[in-house]
Amino acid sequence: MLDTPAMPRQRLLSESPVSPEEVAGVRRPTVEASVLPPRTFHDQDVFDYEQEAWFAGGWVSAGREEDALVPGQYFLAPVAGENLIIARGNDGQLRGFFNVCRHRGATILEEESGTVPRFQCPYHAWVYNLEGTLKQPRHTELLVDFDPDEWGLIPVRVDTWQGIVYVDLSGTAEPLHDFLGDIVREFDRFDLGALRRARRIDYDVKANWKAIVENYQECYHCPGVHPQLNRITPYNSGSYLPSTGAAMNSYMEVLPQFETLSMTGAADGREPMPGMTEDDHKRVYYSAVWPNLLFSLHPDYLMLHWVTPLEPGRTLVRCEWYFDPAEMAKPDFNPAEAIEFWDLTNRQDWHVCELQQRGTKSRAYTAGRYSSMESSVHGFDLMVADRYANDGVTTPQGRVSKQESTAAIKDRAKRAVQGNAAAD
Ligand code: FES
Ligand SMILES: [Fe+2]
Repeated sequence: MLDTPAMPRQRLLSESPVSPEEVAGVRRPTVEASVLPPRTFHDQDVFDYEQEAWFAGGWVSAGREEDALVPGQYFLAPVAGENLIIARGNDGQLRGFFNVCRHRGATILEEESGTVPRFQCPYHAWVYNLEGTLKQPRHTELLVDFDPDEWGLIPVRVDTWQGIVYVDLSGTAEPLHDFLGDIVREFDRFDLGALRRARRIDYDVKANWKAIVENYQECYHCPGVHPQLNRITPYNSGSYLPSTGAAMNSYMEVLPQFETLSMTGAADGREPMPGMTEDDHKRVYYSAVWPNLLFSLHPDYLMLHWVTPLEPGRTLVRCEWYFDPAEMAKPDFNPAEAIEFWDLTNRQDWHVCELQQRGTKSRAYTAGRYSSMESSVHGFDLMVADRYANDGVTTPQGRVSKQESTAAIKDRAKRAVQGNAAAD
């Protein structure tokens, strides 16, 4: 009799491929910590785990409510390898569905957005209403044990914050606003759902999605990479804001001679957005919201980046610009300078992210160290590392004030190290 060969143990996707030991160096105080292990930017099994456990495991931003406002209006949202349908029902309710026919599995909707009276599969024409219920298909009357009511589209949990649509494929995540944390309170003086998109640009970036989120979290690179941005909001200006929950919030200051981030630094006649305080007029707020939304609120416009991982080394970044509809209605409304500014800045960022992606693949590279301008990068990496470790420990965020002196940072770090030693 042949021996049965020992089968390699199949790892369940719920089991992390990155051990607590492998990320122990990340989970130290910032001045001692190492950046993420290089392989987490390249390995397919790490990527698959992130997609399953994180992107399909809780709240992920998926689009804007303005693209599904009236009954039948829908858009498709790429989340965790799916192409979800987000649609407004005849009852006015926003719903999410898997874009998969229950018959033989064809994709139902191919157009990225539109308005439909119902969902009709292009293959054998099974029809679902806007609430996802299947109408009795032709030639199924004689089927045994087949109730069309049990064969509706598979629903996806949906909620919204400030006009941003979120989906939870797991169906078990905490309530959305609890998940989002401080960002909800930080921006509740605004009605950002009322803004409308002026422009969308998609970028196919040859870098891991985490490199892109990390890049957004720091301006250490700004003097060299973004001279145009650094001229208007100096890289060491601004401060961090309360950041419990999924978002890491901060702002940078617009120098007095400028109005906003645009090629000229002028707002081209646009009024500050409704709800803005005097302080807000001179700030650009930046929030990275776990896992895939970069939220940038300027005095006169909102910019969102949606970060969609495609492969370990490839990410779709969708950048959108939103303005107050009252400003957009003015005959001289011209967002071109703001759009050009960020299109330029985006491309500068993607270039260095792509360089990082290539370099971290080198056999010569070992995980580097954080500068004192990168405690937010470390903050995001801790969210990543804690999730890889999956040991129930949430490492405290050690973000330091940008104004804190080097001596004070060292002192704080020393105390943190002593605290760790005492705990060990
Ligand atoms: S696969 Fe959709 S109707 Fe057959
Ligand atoms: Fe940048």
